[in-house]
Amino acid sequence: MADTNFKIEPLFAEPVFRMNVASSISQEQVVALQQLAMVQNQTNLISDDLYIFRRPEFASLAEAVQTALDIYAREVLGIPQSLYVTQSWALTNPPGAGMHGHTHSNSVVSGSLYYAPLPNPTANMIFDRHKTYQQIQLRPDAARTNIFNAPYRVVKPEQGDIILFASDMQHLVEPNASQQHRHSIAFNSFIKGALGDYRNVSELKLSGEPS
Ligand SMILES: [Fe+2]
Repeated sequence: MADTNFKIEPLFAEPVFRMNVASSISQEQVVALQQLAMVQNQTNLISDDLYIFRRPEFASLAEAVQTALDIYAREVLGIPQSLYVTQSWALTNPPGAGMHGHTHSNSVVSGSLYYAPLPNPTANMIFDRHKTYQQIQLRPDAARTNIFNAPYRVVKPEQGDIILFASDMQHLVEPNASQQHRHSIAFNSFIKGALGDYRNVSELKLSGEPS
């Protein structure tokens, strides 16, 4: 009989970071967020203000997100530089509305904050393994799907969750199949600090934008 001993080593992995900050969100902030002026954005609604974390009334939310980004930089990326929020905006998906697949340009880590009660069903986030068009689509058998072959992964958000992920990862939001609005905040981030090496003439000092 042939020897069938084998070993599979995971080489790399794609992280999704989750931290619940429900205790940092007040009812007044929920009301203020839902009263922001919104404009049409393809199928859903997006706040007219695209720097909402600069508003003093949302300072505790911005602080909670900064804490999550600090942990991500240290524990996930393992880098000495820090991440800071660039743009931040509110999103509302009315019944029937989702968000098509996309990535976030000019950002390192992107995220969502589910500040309000989520509808039932929630409308999940779907992360796509592939970043490019797939001429040949290999689909694993359902019973044999694992982290090496899964074409996509489903993340179900909970109220109060901050979810962080690499900005170049393709993702979409399922259509809202409930009769309630689905509310969230989204944001991008970038690196602050020194990269490279002085003598190698690769040094780059990123100071971040003035607040
Ligand atoms: Fe997104």
